[in-house]
Parts: sequence; structure tokens; C-alpha cells
Amino acid sequence: MIFGASGDLTQRKLFPALYALAYRNLLPPQFGVVGVARSDMTLDEFRERMQAAVEEHARDEFRENVWEQLADGLRYVRADLADAEDDEGIVAALNDLDAARGTGGNRVYYLAVPPSAIEPIVLQLGRRRATGGWTRVIVEKPFGHDLESARQLNEVVRSYFDESEIFRIDHYLGKETVQNMLVLRFGNGIFEPIWNRQFVDHVQITVSESLGIEGRASFYEQAGAIRDIVQNHMLQLVALTAMEPPIDFDADSVRNEKVKVLRAVHTPGPKHVVRGQYGPGYIEGDEVPGYREEPGVTPDSMTETYVAAKLYVDNWRWADTPFYIRTGKRLPRRETTIAIQFKRAPHPPFELDAGEELRPNVLLVHVQPDEGVSLAISAKVPGQGMTIRPVHMDFLYGGAFRVGLPEAYERLILDCMLGDATLFTRADEVEEQWAIVDAMVAPWKRDRPHFPNYAAGTWAPAAADELLQRDGRSWRGR
Ligand code: BG6
Repeated sequence: MIFGASGDLTQRKLFPALYALAYRNLLPPQFGVVGVARSDMTLDEFRERMQAAVEEHARDEFRENVWEQLADGLRYVRADLADAEDDEGIVAALNDLDAARGTGGNRVYYLAVPPSAIEPIVLQLGRRRATGGWTRVIVEKPFGHDLESARQLNEVVRSYFDESEIFRIDHYLGKETVQNMLVLRFGNGIFEPIWNRQFVDHVQITVSESLGIEGRASFYEQAGAIRDIVQNHMLQLVALTAMEPPIDFDADSVRNEKVKVLRAVHTPGPKHVVRGQYGPGYIEGDEVPGYREEPGVTPDSMTETYVAAKLYVDNWRWADTPFYIRTGKRLPRRETTIAIQFKRAPHPPFELDAGEELRPNVLLVHVQPDEGVSLAISAKVPGQGMTIRPVHMDFLYGGAFRVGLPEAYERLILDCMLGDATLFTRADEVEEQWAIVDAMVAPWKRDRPHFPNYAAGTWAPAAADELLQRDGRSWRGR
């Protein structure tokens, strides 16, 4: 059952993911979906809309027989969750589906709704739990607005559901390349011995997007870059990069290690957190408006569309090793990377040209696009002299595996149906993430930066460069 069935996420991600699963015969024949939303729609209209969404966004070709199988199990209920009478419609649709498809009462409730709508839905669901099968709840991000609200939300959800039934989604964990971070680190013998403060100079994590806010002003004005990306996706990437090896790939083993890292993360102070907001500019030659000109955004909005920060992970492995993170909308290109920059070779035995020095090795995990991993090493340029140049040893998914990469939501929806919460965020984890964000935003109430402070299509505010320059470093790929 999807709450928020007429929304953007359902059309862009959830139905295309369900279609991809159906396409690969990964859904049981009894599977069905009840869409719930406030819009007035007949079942036929709902089916048509979802079909159009699949045709537009799915990664596979459209096949009538695959779609029919999925469409047969669709139901639609118009409901306002605040209204108890509407609840009867939901119960009736579920009973109908149970009888028609033989679901055995097994249910996944997908809450693709804003945080304020979660509580009333959970209260309704909690009251009518008694069915024969299992029940699981997927909660979309952002999970709360700060530590306090996240705690409250956890309390509400956990008063009706066991932690093993709650699946807080962070779709970055469903990405192949993000999961591969664990295999890269713990499935290979050569990296782990040098994956620490002795050998690593610093880490840079970038989540840059060329997109703007795509008509999501009402959400984004509340969230900003820090709550939209840093609190969840970015801190998960930090946790996976910094965590200790778990003893197995069990949900709690992995999440225990991530929580330990998050507890150790802190920013060394307000001047190490930079925020920005884009003004008008150009993306790939096209003129685009500034954030304050986007529909639904107030003309003096102080919402940040860019955040860069220096973080420390205070433990034995990482003490004093900076983790620089940055994320923003309307940057020059879409790129998510984790760069592990190693310390330079201590002494060059070759004569280098004046002003030259050996470049440090960098292990670059390309989360997207051009998914893969590359290692920058120094090599001798062929010829008489001893000229040295950085080259790359590359692993590219496209070359090594001749299958398309699944979308994150495919993996996550299936994992939830199988009851595997490894790639979902646990209550304490989400709270630790909020504690970090709360500390970062606390000083923001006191000062008003001069917004906008970067033009769309540029690499963001000068202060973000200064953040690294102060430490004698610079952002990669500028
Ligand atoms: C979402 C954010 O969680 O992630 C969006 O709400 C953002 O603002 C998106 O665009 C990015 O996801 P991806 O998978 O395209 O990197």
C-alpha cells in the first residue's frame, strides 16, 4: 500500500522500480498495490497514470504482458488520512486484494508522504494491525526535521511497530556503487591496512547536482540542502567510508558499526560549515533562474541550496583526518564521488622540475554517473627524461559487467519484502545523523549570509574553496 500514490516519487521511482521487479519475475504472483492519495481518481485513471509513469521512467522497454500482471493487482483509494471514514475504504481495498490475490495478509505500507503526514497514518495503521501475515512500514526521508522531532517520530512509530518492522529509507544505500563500497573495503585485502589516519591525508565526498529544485519549493524551503542531502545521503557515505568492518552483513552488525562512526562525527566549528544559495546563471548553455525566482520560493528566502563542511571522525582510525563534504543544486554537473586522498610519497628519488611535486594517490569511488572505481597513480611518461604524470587504473561497471545497474528502489523494495533491513536506517542511526546536523545549523540562526552567493552553473561560494585552502588543500576536479 503506497500512501502518497499521486505524488512525484511514486511515479518517478516506485512504479518504475516495481515494473523492473515484475519484468525480472522478482515479484510473487500474489503481489498487488493499493494506491492511497487525496486526489479524486478512478481505478482506471490511476492505472493509466501509473502506466504512463512506467513508460516514461522505467529502465526497461514497455511490455504489455508485464504491465498487465502488475495492473491487475492495482487498487486505488481516495483518502484523507485525518478522516476515520476514509479508513474504511482502505480496509475494504486491502480485504478485496487479500481475497482476489491471496496475499496471506502480508503487508508493506510505503509512506511516501511529508513528515507531518506520517504520524496520523501510523496511528491508523497501528490500530488495525491484526492480520494473518507480516506487516512492514517504509518511511521516506526526511525522517523528522531535527533531533527532537525525529525522536518523537521514532517514539510514535515504535509504539505500534517493532524496530524490525520499520524500514527508514535512504535510497543512497540501495545504489550498487554505495554497496560496493563495503565490498571494495572488506572484500579486498589491500585497502584496509592503509584505510586510516596513517596513510590517508583526507577524504572528499561530493554530491553535486545540476538540477534545481524541480518544482518542489514547498518541500525544499523547509529542508534546504542540509536536511535534503547532508542529514541522510551524505552522512551515510561518510559512515560507510569510515566504519569498522562488521562481523557479518546482518542488519544490526552493519548498523552498529555505522552508528559508532556517526557518534564520533563532529564539525570543528561554525567557520568550517559553509552554506550557499544559487542565483541566476547558465546550465549547459541554458539560462536558469536563481533559487529565489523559482516558483513557490519567497523572494528573500534564506534556504541554503549548497553546503560544504569539514568533519572529523574522532576515533583511533581517523583522528585529525578531515572529511570534507559538499553538496549543492545547480552546480556545473551531476556527480557523486568519494575520494580517498592518500599521503604523498615521502621522498621523490627523481629530480623533478622546479615547482613540481609528486602527486598523491587518490582512490576515487564514482557513485554516479560513470559508475566505477579508479586509482590515481604516478607514471613515467615514455621518453628519455624522468617526467612523471598521474594516470588512472580504472574499473568501470559498464565494461566489467554487461548488465544495467538496477535502480536503488528496486533493491530496497525487494529487501523490505524479504524482511532484510541492512540497507535501511535504524532509529538510533537517524537520531545520530540529526544530532550532527543540529550542531551544524545551530549557529545559522545568528547570522544572515549574503544570498545568493553563487551563480547557477558554477562551483559555488568562494568560502567553500577557502575552507580547504586554509588547510593547504583544494577541492578535486575544479
Ligand atoms: C533526493 C533529494 O533524496 O535525492 C533530491 O530529495 C535529490 O533533492 C535526490 O535530487 C538525488 O538522488 P540521486 O539518486 O539522483 O542522486
